[in-house]
Amino acid sequence: MKVIDMWAPIVPSHEIIDDLRGGFPAEQLQYLEVFTKTSVSADQFSSYAESRRLDDDQILAALDDAGITQCLITGFDERSTCGVTFVHNESVAALADRYPDRFIPFAGAGPKTAVYVCGPTPMLEAVRVARDEYAGAPLHYERFSPPPVVDGIPFELELARSQRVLSVPANRSALDVMLDRDPTTAYSCQQGFCGTCKVKVLAGQVDHRGRTTVDDDEMLVCVSRAKGDRVVIDA
Ligand code: FES
Repeated sequence: MKVIDMWAPIVPSHEIIDDLRGGFPAEQLQYLEVFTKTSVSADQFSSYAESRRLDDDQILAALDDAGITQCLITGFDERSTCGVTFVHNESVAALADRYPDRFIPFAGAGPKTAVYVCGPTPMLEAVRVARDEYAGAPLHYERFSPPPVVDGIPFELELARSQRVLSVPANRSALDVMLDRDPTTAYSCQQGFCGTCKVKVLAGQVDHRGRTTVDDDEMLVCVSRAKGDRVVIDA
């Protein structure tokens, strides 16, 4: 048996596509890109979503071709990080009701279901807590991991509030170095798309390398670097 975790917005059933066309938040487009590998603007989203629409038979055939026997559907009927609910419970339930052996809304994963989940740390933690009552069932994690630093040049990272200067070597991210000093430093995806690690820049130029949009005076410390010798951040 091969079971995969599917984020609800990438399940192309009629009901879910209708939900997405009704209001997919622009803030989530770059996160979606992680799954679809396609860059879509907010203006293009409705027609893009329509182009992904599949009949049930087509969805089942695609899963069969990939040897996937069951899908655990997550990330629906809840407020996203930008405060919008864009895939509703009823839409996921409709598909699961038609094919209960193939689609399991996450809340429906039973006491013996083995769960495989990949994603940012807060999502993994939410799944772990949700599965606590079935502690005997297998739960397998895979965390997002940071990409290797490409063309890195060493620089100094000055933390204005804590009055520290950290040396960021060519092959490490600023976030890595900050975590050495303070393991509670906020982060999630480590790939420049979730925005969790964003900090205010007080001085210095930033080589922005993230996939989510930030202002000139902000920096995603998981991927972005200084353009010069030093950047000063509000941390
Ligand atoms: S941790 Fe997600 S953008 Fe930096």
